[in-house]
Amino acid sequence: MCCLLLVIQPLWANEQSIRPGVNRQYENPNWSQWVSVFERRGREVYEHRHAIVAATGVRPGMQVADIGAGTGLFTRLFASKVAPTGTVYAVDISRTFIENILRTCREMGLNNVEGIVNSPRITGLPDQSIDLAFVTDTYHHFEYPASMLESIHRSLRTGGRLVIIDFRREPGISSPWVMGHVRAGKNAVIREIQAAGFRLVTEKPVMRSNYFLTFSKEGS
Ligand SMILES: C[S@@+](CC[C@H](N)C(=O)[O-])C[C@H]1O[C@@H](n2cnc3c(N)ncnc32)[C@H](O)[C@@H]1O
Repeated sequence: MCCLLLVIQPLWANEQSIRPGVNRQYENPNWSQWVSVFERRGREVYEHRHAIVAATGVRPGMQVADIGAGTGLFTRLFASKVAPTGTVYAVDISRTFIENILRTCREMGLNNVEGIVNSPRITGLPDQSIDLAFVTDTYHHFEYPASMLESIHRSLRTGGRLVIIDFRREPGISSPWVMGHVRAGKNAVIREIQAAGFRLVTEKPVMRSNYFLTFSKEGS
């Protein structure tokens, strides 16, 4: 008699890159050039940065991970809000970005920021260590979204939140650049995140061209 052994593997176990090369521009980045790209008037998340931070509900003492921290625009704002006892983890696959975030935070007297240079599949955060995972303009840069979501899920404490801010991608409305650069629209992103064990809690109308979604760990 033949016995069929079924081994069910999670989605993320053998995940292949869904966007090879999407982060090539960050492999050896020119710091000041990217500061002028990410921290400029006219960029919607920059213009609304204070409203965004307020809408996350961040409070003193919280442990926050800014995942895909870039030049640290939000890392610095969160660091002031969670001080004196809270910590912000700046997480990015680019060592240049993390080294410069730590330098600029030191120069500004923000001593509650830690840097993590992660691999594109995992956050590098300890399990159950954070209250808020903040992912802005970065979800569409994840080459391995299922693996990253699994890792974010593990790093969140019970009751923790995941905030995703990303470009609206609506055929006939969004610019050709967004249609080409962003791989999925809001509803597809919500489905992916729910499949990873999160529950959609709120959508906040903070911006026009970007959506702002808050998720909790399923069951918490
Ligand atoms: C468009 S930038 C956004 C930077 C920042 N969040 C902001 O809004 O100013 C995307 C960032 O995500 C980083 N990134 C891409 N994939 C990542 C991953 N799997 N984990 C952490 N960072 C990642 C890139 O290196 C880059 O710094």
